Amino acid sequence: MSEYLPGLEGVPATKSNISDLDGSRGILTYRGYEISDLARYSNFEETALLLLDGRLPTAAELEEFDRRLRNNRPVKYNIREIMKYLPATGHPMEMLQASVAALAMFYPAEENLGGDDTDYIHNMSVKILARMATLVAMWEHLRAGYDPIPPRKDLGYAENLLYMFTGEEPDPLLARIMDASLILHAEHTINASTFAALVAGSTLTNPYLVVAAAIGTLAGPLHGGANQRVLEMLQEIGRPENARAWLERQLAEKRRIWGMGHREYKVKDPRATILQNMMLELMKERGGQISPLFETAVALEEAAAEKLGPKGVYPNVDYYSGILYSEMGIPGDQFTSIFAVARCAGWLAHWREQLKDNRIFRPTQVYIGEAPRAYVSIEER
Ligand code: COA
Repeated sequence: MSEYLPGLEGVPATKSNISDLDGSRGILTYRGYEISDLARYSNFEETALLLLDGRLPTAAELEEFDRRLRNNRPVKYNIREIMKYLPATGHPMEMLQASVAALAMFYPAEENLGGDDTDYIHNMSVKILARMATLVAMWEHLRAGYDPIPPRKDLGYAENLLYMFTGEEPDPLLARIMDASLILHAEHTINASTFAALVAGSTLTNPYLVVAAAIGTLAGPLHGGANQRVLEMLQEIGRPENARAWLERQLAEKRRIWGMGHREYKVKDPRATILQNMMLELMKERGGQISPLFETAVALEEAAAEKLGPKGVYPNVDYYSGILYSEMGIPGDQFTSIFAVARCAGWLAHWREQLKDNRIFRPTQVYIGEAPRAYVSIEER
């Protein structure tokens, strides 16, 4: 009997040269570049192209990619019409999956898709990446009964995303923080949603459906959905001085602490440290004005280090991201959608890598059911 490892812990699902992490030292690299350097020096457009192509682009390559991203931001009015009829009470991730899947109907899959169809693969990657932000921001207005704010070509990816949410050109520091946050969320080895994208991609299905499969997987609270729950958790705790007692109650009841723990990291997620520092920078810029949610998060992290640290459970990427997004006026149920916009770059890079040397995923199982037996007619049961 093959050994069964729940959650496929430690089982390599693919060979990849896109990103790597060292979970005991808290290091994450994309194509060999440290995430902290990319967050400081790169922008989301460049990082996305780095993930897709495998190397830092020249100025001309980046300009061309950026130009195409800007030109592909609008979505067909039919998609807006479909979105209008979705229930306003539905979760934005459900909307995002439905509308990305609907887009597949306008862009049929390539027949006999192969790894050498580089133009098709690149074109689809640009289109999907460009439209993800548009769909997410459109929903914010459509669900409130208003027309969406059309994308602007003269703004960078992160700036335009914030602009489409609020209708106002964003504060430069907030735009820079959003840009860095998109970089930090863009890729993370073979996580659950990337694995879903690989499995879907390996069947040679339409790339919009590859991304739709990944969106559905990211939505769950054990994965990207945790960032929304972190904010709700901090609101429930209320004040920093309540954090320790609240944590003890949760742990006594064997409940999860949202935004903490990771299959791969046994120390604090390096992305959480960068996001936390960005929050400190934002508060400094605002004249030392303290965010009560942030103070509560820091108090909970301190209390959790004592109780959960020995198990290697520390804040992950979802712990501080939501606090930053709420400072930008983004509602809590859209946090995971912002994550999806960023992670789409990684999904598409893995889709491309999978196609290069494709073999359909078809794992095996350990059967624990009945041995073959005779059918019993309904009268005799
Ligand atoms: N709160 C409390 N305890 C946690 C925890 C958390 N967030 N994460 C892990 N643990 C504990 C488990 O209870 C378990 O303890 P035990 O060995 O005494 O039973 C141990 O740490 C290992 O946890 P396990 O669930 O086996 O790890 P996993 O690798 O299967 O799961 C996560 C990883 C991310 C799903 C898990 O840490 C989690 O649920 N975190 C909260 C959700 C979240 O933030 N997800 C976003 C991930 S980026």
